[in-house]
Amino acid sequence: MPTGLISLAIGDPDMPTPGHIVEALEVAIRSGYTHYADRPGDPELRSALAEHLSARFGRHVVFDEVLVTQGSSAGLASTMLASLNPGDRVLIPEPTYSLYADIARFAGAEPVFVGQTSNFHLDLDQIEAHASDCKMVVICTPCNPTGAVYTRDELLNLGAICAKFGMLVLSDEAYDQIVFDGTEFASAMEIPALQEHLVYCQTFSKTYAMTGWRLGYVHADARIVAAANTVHQTFNGSLNAAVQRAALAALTGPMDWLSTIRRTYQRRRDLVVSALRDAPGLNLHPPEGTFYAFVGNDKGLSASEMAHRVQDHGVLVRPGTEFGPSGEGFVRISFSVADEILVQGLERLRNALELGPT
Ligand SMILES: Cc1ncc(COP(=O)(O)O)c(C=O)c1O
Repeated sequence: MPTGLISLAIGDPDMPTPGHIVEALEVAIRSGYTHYADRPGDPELRSALAEHLSARFGRHVVFDEVLVTQGSSAGLASTMLASLNPGDRVLIPEPTYSLYADIARFAGAEPVFVGQTSNFHLDLDQIEAHASDCKMVVICTPCNPTGAVYTRDELLNLGAICAKFGMLVLSDEAYDQIVFDGTEFASAMEIPALQEHLVYCQTFSKTYAMTGWRLGYVHADARIVAAANTVHQTFNGSLNAAVQRAALAALTGPMDWLSTIRRTYQRRRDLVVSALRDAPGLNLHPPEGTFYAFVGNDKGLSASEMAHRVQDHGVLVRPGTEFGPSGEGFVRISFSVADEILVQGLERLRNALELGPT
């Protein structure tokens, strides 16, 4: 049993990167991929990504519509900075990943937060009410921190709103391979009405346990990709050449790894749900995807009080307000840790939060 401080705060898979990807990196380094790489990305990787997206989503994606980035963090930053002007408004359904609002502000744009439905799905009425004066809406599906997976119908309706108002949609689908209970994952890439309005952001970090390798990619209209490339070059220069060759191996190599991670996260997600769903004073919508659970309380504790109490019991979690104003009264836990650590962390968390307000 773990005895020290337990961190359920970080979204980093605990499993090692699959062996064939590591081997591809070694081969790439020995083969001389040790110099500056092409700026928008390794040409073979860009082609493979265009082919992969075309085959997966039944769309015709071409080379110039793909930009390889320094993790999806840089994909998000470079596309948002390339698309937004100071004073633009960016619609952000929240709670959601905090980087979107940070980047919007960095671009001089204004984040416009809208809450979600009671089960953390898109509130399309609110989105439509703000769409006419927003340039972009940013969605995260499956959603960090809530675990919601937006349905195809929600995305179809969002597509109709974006088409009506000419609003861009940035869809961050970092956790697309991690869904539970047979939930169907629908990508914004599959929505015809979004074809002209979509910036699609993806990463190797979560699916392939490659957070430390720092590689992601973006697909959008070639003009957005060209502008994003200018921003990306300015901040990041060229990407690690050998890592891009390893990413090629991830993309084209064996896929049995995916069923392994799905089984692992499903088991851990079930541990979380059974520990917390009926815990007195706590509430939880079972996550439909990701490796996060968003845990609320009905005792009137603030997000920061919850996080502090939990820390006093030896567990680190994130206060829900990091993810937007609607995260008040919640904490986010990450279940990307070994089962025994998770079980111990959940027990401490229950003990911390079942005490009632001081
Ligand atoms: C929703 C989401 N998008 C993007 C990222 C950034 O990932 P990376 O920069 O490692 O690709 C994260 C990381 O936690 C995330 O949760």
